[in-house]
Amino acid sequence: MVRLFLTLSPAIPRFNLFPGISILATKLRTKTPAFSLISPSSSPNFQRTRFYSIGTRIYYSLPNSENSNFDDTLVVLGIETSCDDTAAAVRGNGEILSQVISSQAELLAQYGGVAPKQAEEAHSQVIDKVVQDALDRASLTEKDLSAVAVTIGPGLSLCLRVGVRKARSVAGNFSLPIVGVHHMEAHALVARLVEQELSFPFMALLISGGHNLLVLAHKLGQYTQLGTTVDDAIGEAFDKTAKWLGLDMRRSGGPAVEELALEGDAKSVKFNVPMKYHKDCNFSYAGLKTQVRLAIEAKEIDAKCPVSSATNEDRRNRADIAASFQRVAVLHLEEKCERAIDWALELEPSIKHMVVSGGVASNKYVRLRLNNIVENKNLKLVCPPPSLCTDNGVMVAWTGLEHFRVGRYDPPPPATEPDDFVYDLRPRWPLGEEYAKGRSKARSMRTARIHPSLTSIIRADSLQQQT
Ligand code: KG4
Ligand code: ZN
Repeated sequence: MVRLFLTLSPAIPRFNLFPGISILATKLRTKTPAFSLISPSSSPNFQRTRFYSIGTRIYYSLPNSENSNFDDTLVVLGIETSCDDTAAAVRGNGEILSQVISSQAELLAQYGGVAPKQAEEAHSQVIDKVVQDALDRASLTEKDLSAVAVTIGPGLSLCLRVGVRKARSVAGNFSLPIVGVHHMEAHALVARLVEQELSFPFMALLISGGHNLLVLAHKLGQYTQLGTTVDDAIGEAFDKTAKWLGLDMRRSGGPAVEELALEGDAKSVKFNVPMKYHKDCNFSYAGLKTQVRLAIEAKEIDAKCPVSSATNEDRRNRADIAASFQRVAVLHLEEKCERAIDWALELEPSIKHMVVSGGVASNKYVRLRLNNIVENKNLKLVCPPPSLCTDNGVMVAWTGLEHFRVGRYDPPPPATEPDDFVYDLRPRWPLGEEYAKGRSKARSMRTARIHPSLTSIIRADSLQQQT
């Protein structure tokens, strides 16, 4: 059985504030919180016993905070702008108090994908409103916050900058600590918010528009990367398939392909499963994209003719391609996950759970197929609800809180920063170190502009702390 965990809201209202940009907002709590709002500096648990700096970051340690109900007293604002969603959420009183998402639906449809400059402008237009809405819906003001968490990478620099600038301005004006969050760690850790049983170590498959990661999560901030994509991620393949099939891209390509696939015969078009003979856990979706494009050309499908206006036969052809693509794209995930689970169990035999998260994890077929694989290996699948699989502010607030309560954060920035201030953005930022068995030559060739992994930074911090 696929475990569908706690859905935060049965129906999230969507409304338009700016032309071409829709806002998804939820009020998840109706009462004012019945708890005292503390800032870390006033908390009895908070002792600035030591601090140390790694690169541009300074961390303080918060002794004994892990064993207390410390996090229930913390209120964290999370901000996410790494790609095409402008999102904010507030976590406090041990629950999610609000979440707001503004998605760039019309832009996606217009450009058939994310155009960085236009995405940056769209983020800039709505960021103040999104953050204000998140605070209002939580019935809080900035003064009630304990910290601000923000995605600093990986993602599009132009887009990341909008969120980081806003987070630093809130933190600077209200003297709040700030936590820089790794977007992919946030996709993985949000599962711990919805599944209380999920403790480290666990495995995670993180599947989104730009990433296809298989990781072993040893503990907070400590990951071994078992596999990644050598070219495109599965979400990119869904998006291009949708575009070439003339589908409505306003909800992104994935949901449109998933819906049309229900009408098709998944065995009618023969696509090869990628990297079948590579005995590792890496992925490749570029070749499958090409196979799909060729199949579309062979059936003379015109992407300019929307599927809603297609003849019955044309629509059936498109549905067959959608279904066949989805089956093979997911078979590729299944094969690599099976091997990755074996590798992970060799490294950490106590693993009980496999998390599947990221936008593509909201796909029902993906969840069903991966659940079979995971159950056959005697593990439990944990899939966050779809609203927490796709990009959102909740995962950032939650991950910020997880790091904050163990003392990993930056001190408040200055209230005003010069216009030419250089933000610490990490557009290419690995989560963990590659597992030696899974290394691929192609990737090791292009390590030049990559930031040191989150895991290596935190490990270096811990070592320094011990000395
Ligand atoms: O995690 P996410 O929201 O943003 C990134 O970090 O990239 O993932 C977005 C990706 C897009 O490629 C979108 O097409 C895909 O997730 N996606 C889906 C579904 N919903 C979103 N793919 C397949 N089926 C879905 N239902
Ligand atoms: Zn994402």
